Amino acid sequence: MRMVDLIEKKRDGKELSENEIKWVIDRYTANEVPDYQMSAFLMATFFTDMTDKEITAMTLAMAHSGEVIDLSSIAGVKVDKHSTGGVGDTTTLILAPLVASVGVPVAKMSGRGLGYTGGTLDKLEAIPGFKIELSEDEFIQLVNENQVAVIGQSGNLAPADKKLYALRDVTATVNSIPLIASSIMSKKIAAGADAIVLDVTTGDGAFMKNLEDARRLAKTMVRIGALANRQTMAVISDMSQPLGEAIGNSLEVVEAIETLQGEGPADLLEMCYVLGSQMVVLAKKADTLVAARQMLEESLTSGKALAKFKEMIQNQGGDVTVVDHPERLLSAAYQIPVFARQTGVVTKLVANELGIAAMMLGAGRKTKDEAIDHAVGLKLHKKIGEEVAVGETLLTIYSNTTEVAEVVALIEANIEIGDTSKEPPLIHEIITE
Ligand code: URA
Ligand code: CA
Repeated sequence: MRMVDLIEKKRDGKELSENEIKWVIDRYTANEVPDYQMSAFLMATFFTDMTDKEITAMTLAMAHSGEVIDLSSIAGVKVDKHSTGGVGDTTTLILAPLVASVGVPVAKMSGRGLGYTGGTLDKLEAIPGFKIELSEDEFIQLVNENQVAVIGQSGNLAPADKKLYALRDVTATVNSIPLIASSIMSKKIAAGADAIVLDVTTGDGAFMKNLEDARRLAKTMVRIGALANRQTMAVISDMSQPLGEAIGNSLEVVEAIETLQGEGPADLLEMCYVLGSQMVVLAKKADTLVAARQMLEESLTSGKALAKFKEMIQNQGGDVTVVDHPERLLSAAYQIPVFARQTGVVTKLVANELGIAAMMLGAGRKTKDEAIDHAVGLKLHKKIGEEVAVGETLLTIYSNTTEVAEVVALIEANIEIGDTSKEPPLIHEIITE
C-alpha cells in the first residue's frame, strides 16, 4: 500500500476499507508515514467526511495503537462518562462518588485541562495530597474494594490519538466530526469501558457551536460505540453559559462538596442526576431511569454519596478534612467583586470567554506544559435568566494578584444584562441507538 494512493482515494470521496484505515493509523503511529502526508489525509477527511464503517475502523485502530486496559477483573458493568468539553464542568467530581455509592463500579481515567476547558485531574490535584498516578493493579484493587478510583490517563493510551491530535491542532483539522468522534471513542475503548455515557456539549463554550452539529457528533459516536460492542448513549447538553457557579480548580472542588451536601447549584445537580441515571441503567443497577434517579437522590440526601467522596479522597492519599472544611481550599489572596452596571435580567454569560478569563488568572493552561494555580477562578452569583440590580455583585474573581484589569474587561464584555431573558434548557436531547 502507498499513502499517496490512500490520500487520493480519500480526496475523491471514496470509502477506504478497514485494512486501509488500519494501515494508515499503524504506519503513522510507527513514524513511517510522515506528518505532511498525514496532514493531507486529515484535510481530505475534513472536506469529504467518513462513513460509519471508516470511523469505526479508525476508532478501533487508534484504540489498539497502544495499551488497552483490561477491567475484566472488576465485577459488574464498567460504565465510563465523557464530556466533549465545557467551562466549569464539575460533573465528574460529583458523579464518580455518587454513582459508585449506589454500587456502580467507577474506574475512571481523566485528563488535564487545556485552553479554556478544565480537566478533572487538575481539579482533583487541588485537594492536598491527592494522588492521580496509581499502578493498574492499585487502580483495579481500589475499584474492587471501594467501587471508585479516578486516575490520570496512562501515558501509552491511544498514542495514535496523541500524535494525531497534535497534528490536527496545527493543521486546522480539529473541528471535524469523524476526527473528533474517533479521537474520543478510541480513548474510551482503550480505557476499558463496557458502556459509555457521552455528554456532548453545545454552545459558545463547546466544540459544537450549534445543535445540529452536536446532534451529528452524538449520533456518530453512539453508532460507532455500538459497532465496537460498547453500549453507548449521549446527552446533548447546553454549554452556552458555564455549568454551575464555580470555574477554577479549588472552587470547583468546593462546589462538588456543596453539591454532594445537597447545597450546590441546581443546574449542576440536575446534570449529575441526568448523566448518573443513564450510567446506573447501563450498569444494570436499575431497570428504569426513574428508578435510577431515585436511587441517586436517596444516596445524596442520606449522605452516602458524600461519604463515598471522602473514601475516594482518603484512598488516593488526599486530605479528607477539606470535605468538612472546604474553606481551607479557598486560599486565593484576593476576592474581587464585579458589579452590575445596570438593573435588569442576565441575558448572556459567554462560557468560553469566561473560561478564558479564568485561564488568564492562572486556572488553566495556554500551553500543554504550563503550571496552573489551583486557588484562582471565578464564582458566578447570577446566571442567565436571573434578575440583577445595579451595583449588585455579578461574580467574584478569586485571584493571587490585584492586576486584574484585563480580566475584568473581558468578563464585562461577555456578560449582558437586558430586559427579558429565558434560562436556556440544560439538556437539549438524548441520543440512543
Ligand atoms: N476531545 C478529544 O479527546 N478529541 C477531540 O478531537 C476533540 C475533543
Ligand atoms: Ca462548575
